[in-house]
Amino acid sequence: MKLLTICLSSVLLFTYQNAAAQPNQIDQKALKQEAISLIKKFGGQLKPELKKALKSKGPVHAVEVCAKKAPEIARKINASSSNWHIKRVSLKNRNPNAKPDAWERKVLTMFDQKRLNGESAKKMAYSEVVDGKFRFMKAQATEAVCLTCHSKNIAPNIQKAIHQYYPNDKATGYSLGEIRGAFSLEYNPQGTLPNVRIIKKIPNFMKLNNRALSPVSP
Ligand code: HEC
Repeated sequence: MKLLTICLSSVLLFTYQNAAAQPNQIDQKALKQEAISLIKKFGGQLKPELKKALKSKGPVHAVEVCAKKAPEIARKINASSSNWHIKRVSLKNRNPNAKPDAWERKVLTMFDQKRLNGESAKKMAYSEVVDGKFRFMKAQATEAVCLTCHSKNIAPNIQKAIHQYYPNDKATGYSLGEIRGAFSLEYNPQGTLPNVRIIKKIPNFMKLNNRALSPVSP
């Protein structure tokens, strides 16, 4: 009898573990695809803007375009998805908001190490479930076009323009192929509450009731 119980419970445990692992794996695969398509959306809007600005009015104007457009594009993408949050981060950040948190720092350090071991930055990505949230990072390599504003030798007029917007800029000194930074995405299965403006108007004494509001799927 004892043996039967042990056998039965191990079968049950095995089935349970399998059932628990399966959806997670499928979800992660789908989420990775979603993350990649959001990155393409971000890069697909920013890079042409940058190139157009460089070509039409030169790098000083392009600094301005980058400073305004990059945060704006991120904001728009984030506003259109209640579950996803996308941003760019770097160990040597230019924008103060691009400072990595502990997890992002770990991943960026790992990317740098991989590159030192000879791996190309182009296909480097990493994902993990952290505190119930799916997190994904994709490295951004330093390409030739990036050197104008992120290398060791930045023209003085461009340097001046960068300092005007970012007095604490650390994002210089990069060479071709180095990891400039990464896209960092977070998927929160709970989503955000649908209309923040309405919620702000709720008087303080009712605030606890916010917990009762469940997120509406997009
Ligand atoms: C015309 C100048 C210019 C060029 C060229 C340029 N950048 Fe930047 N980069 C900026 C500015 C300005 C910011 C800050 C924008 C912001 O607020 O997000 C920035 C921010 C970033 C960030 C966000 C992290 C941080 O340090 O704030 C990454 C990642 C980045 N650039 C990567 C690149 C890559 C990769 C290329 C080449 C494909 C490139 N940049 C080309 C000016 C430039």
